[in-house]
Amino acid sequence: MLPPADSLAPDWLSVPEDANDLAPGVWPASAVRDDAGELRIGGVGAAELVRTHGSPLLLLDEPEVRSRARAFHDAFAAATAEHGTTSRVYYAGKAFLSTAVAQWVTEEGLNVDVCTRGELEVALAAGVQPHRIGFHGNNKSVSELERAVEVGVGTIIVDSLIEIERLGAITARTRSQQNVLIRVNSGVHAETHDFLATAHEDQKFGFAFPDAEAAAARIREIDGLRLLGLHCHIGSQIFGVAGFRESASRVLELHERLRADGDLPLLNLGGGFGIAYTRVDDPTPIEDLAREIVDAVASGCAVRGIPVPELAFEPGRAIVGTAGVTLYEIGTTKDVVLDAGTRRYVSVDGGMSDNARPALYGAQFSARLASRAGGGGPVLVRVVGKHCESGDIVVEHEYLPEDLAPGDLLAVPATGAYCASLASNYNHVPRPAVVAVSGGATRVIVRGETIDDLLARDAGITGIRTADGGASGPAEGER
Ligand code: LLP
Repeated sequence: MLPPADSLAPDWLSVPEDANDLAPGVWPASAVRDDAGELRIGGVGAAELVRTHGSPLLLLDEPEVRSRARAFHDAFAAATAEHGTTSRVYYAGKAFLSTAVAQWVTEEGLNVDVCTRGELEVALAAGVQPHRIGFHGNNKSVSELERAVEVGVGTIIVDSLIEIERLGAITARTRSQQNVLIRVNSGVHAETHDFLATAHEDQKFGFAFPDAEAAAARIREIDGLRLLGLHCHIGSQIFGVAGFRESASRVLELHERLRADGDLPLLNLGGGFGIAYTRVDDPTPIEDLAREIVDAVASGCAVRGIPVPELAFEPGRAIVGTAGVTLYEIGTTKDVVLDAGTRRYVSVDGGMSDNARPALYGAQFSARLASRAGGGGPVLVRVVGKHCESGDIVVEHEYLPEDLAPGDLLAVPATGAYCASLASNYNHVPRPAVVAVSGGATRVIVRGETIDDLLARDAGITGIRTADGGASGPAEGER
């Protein structure tokens, strides 16, 4: 008999039969418990990983990233081939970018989407061919655009008339040709598990439809720019296809109108495919998503009597999210007595500096003991970090074994996307290393920060001088 659900537990969280089980779909395929009960990922035990690389630690399961990248590539290739066209899948580097990851995904057939100079430089340092890079952003600076044109980035997704003029001036000056897409705001805004087909014009990204027509006309006047098509992105962590379908059907209307004045060979429908963070999340298999989205675009084109363009997609989270597992060490536990019951707080040695998603979005995660299988029946816990904020939550609600204790390692799955990339040094906590695991081997792909790294930027300690001889930091007049 299971104990009754704790009165402090949310409705969606049921008491697990076994608080050591690994929920299907939430963990990388390689995650198992060995005979002694220890969690192993990529063939390596949690305790050994922390002994070697420290705690907290972000693990990235390389075969999981590769197989998801390949699955996206193949699913969209198959779905578009059915309709006599082709597809390009860009990995959205904002989810997590390092040279290793850029290499894995491009080796599996993907392109790379970047949205800043920094992301662009990582992709280039990884050896990604520039024509396989798409460059996003609502406020790309002149120097960012100059660098993108100089290295020969494949597509620049323009977001404002000002950017179009900047790009026109750069291509004229450098006598170059640049392919561009116009980012449009389809009015469909999908967040979390539902999509809201409501007007969502009041946001910073993209052109409204009437403005996009003016943007297209202007781009077509500029010799150095070639308009390839439209781009839209409706949100992130989206389940199902309804939002993508609705957005595609709206964008096709504009696509058809703009085709009257010239070829538009490409349509980019963005990213946003959801993953499972807890056992109640149930994302649609990518093969089904790809088929349904592409079929919807193809039938929209058929109704309009226009050819199906090449289709592009930009998954980020769905490539790396499930491949990531964060290991923490439990430091303290505390039972807090409330009117509705007692909540056990479990404090770990990281928190909102390595995973800001619960604090930023109220995101839910799950957790399991990693260094051993625990005993004593499931107890409702809240896993919190070490930061000086009460919102510093890692896992808001989870059932874990009753006997968990300081020194145990805890694993939080589905942390591959938007955790390391959103990490900070809040409270001067060094950011953890990112370690790739594969077939029993480990490789550091991003070095963990040290206290020396933190102190190195404080000019009062290091006396850093800039190249022009001035002290780094604020300019004279700003002090
Ligand atoms: N393409 C564009 C233009 C985007 O803005 C994004 C994400 C993506 C693709 C990739 O979306 P994905 O497939 O990863 O959902 N920090 C938030 C998510 C922000 C997404 C920003 N744009 C989070 O942690 O939930």
